Amino acid sequence: MNESLKPHISGKMWIGVIVFVSAICIAVAVFVLGKHEHASEAKYVGPKKCASCHPQQAASWAETRMAKSFEVLRAGIKVKEKEMVKLDPNRDYTHDPLCLRCHTTGYGLVGGFESIETTPEMAGVTCESCHGHGGSYADVVMRAEKPTFQTADARKAGLVYPPTEAVCKECHNPDSPFVGMDYKFDYGARVKEGTHQHFQLKYDHGN
Ligand code: HEC
Ligand code: HEC
Ligand code: HEC
Ligand code: HEC
Repeated sequence: MNESLKPHISGKMWIGVIVFVSAICIAVAVFVLGKHEHASEAKYVGPKKCASCHPQQAASWAETRMAKSFEVLRAGIKVKEKEMVKLDPNRDYTHDPLCLRCHTTGYGLVGGFESIETTPEMAGVTCESCHGHGGSYADVVMRAEKPTFQTADARKAGLVYPPTEAVCKECHNPDSPFVGMDYKFDYGARVKEGTHQHFQLKYDHGN
């Protein structure tokens, strides 16, 4: 420090300098951490990851029509049904972006479905279509070593639980060729019969 400058800097000014430098540090930290959190938030991890901790839900989900919903896009499958809604039953729809949006998981998003060749695990309506992208909560907030996590914390990290009717209606809506304008989606009945079997959780996770 230059001796001739010293007397001119008062105590008040020093506080100002410290506050200014701290503010910059906080702004940089928020930017860096915020960015990191955002990147992981949108990451899909695939149903195998969920199945490793939830084998019962995974086994019963695998038997549902939604788990197998990619297969109906193939040529020669569901011929009568396709003819009825004027789709070409001999056409292969497995690379048609219009259909992939609802018949795969996380289409076009980080870690989500790209193509049946590169991301076969993300074909069909998998766990994360209803429960949200797992990269930010599975094995992060939701951990085997800390099974008493709070739902509110997991939700903050991206978990969707319980999935509401609005989540289903992202796909169960009249944009589907098989759904008429008079379509009514009965959430209560569909959850019971079409998702996966529901098991009593061991711990209370609050709301
Ligand atoms: C490392 C283990 C682990 C992984 C991986 C994991 N979970 Fe969990 N999950 C748990 C535990 C532990 C619980 C609490 C179980 C209990 O209370 O019986 C839980 C609870 C849940 C709940 C209920 C939440 C609540 O607040 O009550 C849902 C829904 C869920 N998991 C979905 C998923 C999905 C979807 C994935 C994949 C993206 C996944 N989990 C991956 C360990 C895991
Ligand atoms: C907006 C979402 C959405 C889009 C887009 C979509 N589907 Fe579907 N599809 C659904 C839903 C939801 C169902 C199940 C309807 C039900 O039973 O409620 C379904 C059912 C089907 C079925 C089974 C019908 C049956 O009766 O068994 C076939 C086949 C099918 N879709 C093919 C296609 C093809 C081919 C395309 C692209 C041209 C397409 N879908 C685009 C959401 C969609
Ligand atoms: C990512 C899109 C998507 C989401 C989200 C979604 N579904 Fe589906 N669902 C489909 C498609 C596609 C089919 C058709 C599967 C087939 O027939 O091959 C289907 C089929 C079904 C079926 C079987 C139809 C039948 O008549 O047996 C039920 C039940 C169902 N969905 C319930 C739900 C419920 C409940 C939710 C919300 C908790 C939900 N779905 C969320 C895309 C979705
Ligand atoms: C079509 C939507 C849908 C899909 C796909 C789905 N879930 Fe769920 N899940 C639900 C609904 C709805 C509930 C019940 C919420 C409630 O109790 O109100 C639920 C509840 C759960 C629970 C809480 C305990 C229980 O059994 O109810 C766990 C854990 C869970 N799901 C894990 C999974 C895993 C793992 C997968 C993939 C293998 C998966 N889910 C796929 C809709 C779905």
